[in-house]
Amino acid sequence: MNKIIDGKAVAEALVAEIRDATEQLVARTGTQPGIAVVIVGEDPASQVYVSSKGKKAKECGFHSIQHTLPGDTSEDELVGLIERLNADNAIHGILVQLPLPKQIDAGRIIQTISPDKDVDGFHFVNVGKLGAGELDTAFVPCTPAGSMLLIERTLGPDLSGLNAVVVGRSNIVGKPMANLLLAANATVTVAHSRTKNLPELCRTADILVAAVGRPEMIKGDWVKPGAVVIDVGINRLPPGDNGKARLVGDVAYDEALPAAGAITPVPGGVGPMTIALLMSNTLASATRATG
Ligand code: GUN
Repeated sequence: MNKIIDGKAVAEALVAEIRDATEQLVARTGTQPGIAVVIVGEDPASQVYVSSKGKKAKECGFHSIQHTLPGDTSEDELVGLIERLNADNAIHGILVQLPLPKQIDAGRIIQTISPDKDVDGFHFVNVGKLGAGELDTAFVPCTPAGSMLLIERTLGPDLSGLNAVVVGRSNIVGKPMANLLLAANATVTVAHSRTKNLPELCRTADILVAAVGRPEMIKGDWVKPGAVVIDVGINRLPPGDNGKARLVGDVAYDEALPAAGAITPVPGGVGPMTIALLMSNTLASATRATG
């Protein structure tokens, strides 16, 4: 087994499978999976993410539309657009890129998306299904779902007897990640900024998931020898001596590599999986819609 988990290769293989399954779905039912990505305002990082989602959707053979709204769009206008997309039979997945501008309540917007088209898995219906272990019908948030696939490929589907520590308790990553690990029979601890003795706790982890958004916070000597380390962080450091901005994870990779049994790099680990899982959720939605 290769120690460095190649998320890019796994994601490419998954996208190839999705493209094949899409061709078959179209041939069998005439339904082409459709995804709508909505972006409000001009955050440059969000624009990059949104355009790569559109490209990947085309690669999968999906119908893909993007709505770009001005930064001063009102909450009611955005709700109106989502209601139209909810009613549009050509659209099976709706993604509203976060963060949203200040005048818009993101919580209300997320709850306006039909749970049947909520490919981000943020609607309370999908959050509840995941919490209840209803994995067959829930949309699971893409980053933890992609992380879980990488863990399964490394350790197999049953994590009985293994200790998992998730560092970070966000609704987008930490909490759904903990639920997925629990559903796979791991013994799960969720750590966060108020946790005491974090290094000691991390050293108990057979599976260590870092999702805090702090560059290289998890040190090499926090990693139990042989542990599987999943680094969800994508942190952009300012240009160094060579003038190039550097992308690093939440784990001090060079330190952690010798101790880990397997580890995801940044970039090329979890990142490519996130977008592949968005496509997978959209295909699942279209498949369900055709009955
Ligand atoms: N912004 C950063 N990550 C995400 C994500 O997973 N989904 C959405 N909708 N917006 C994001």
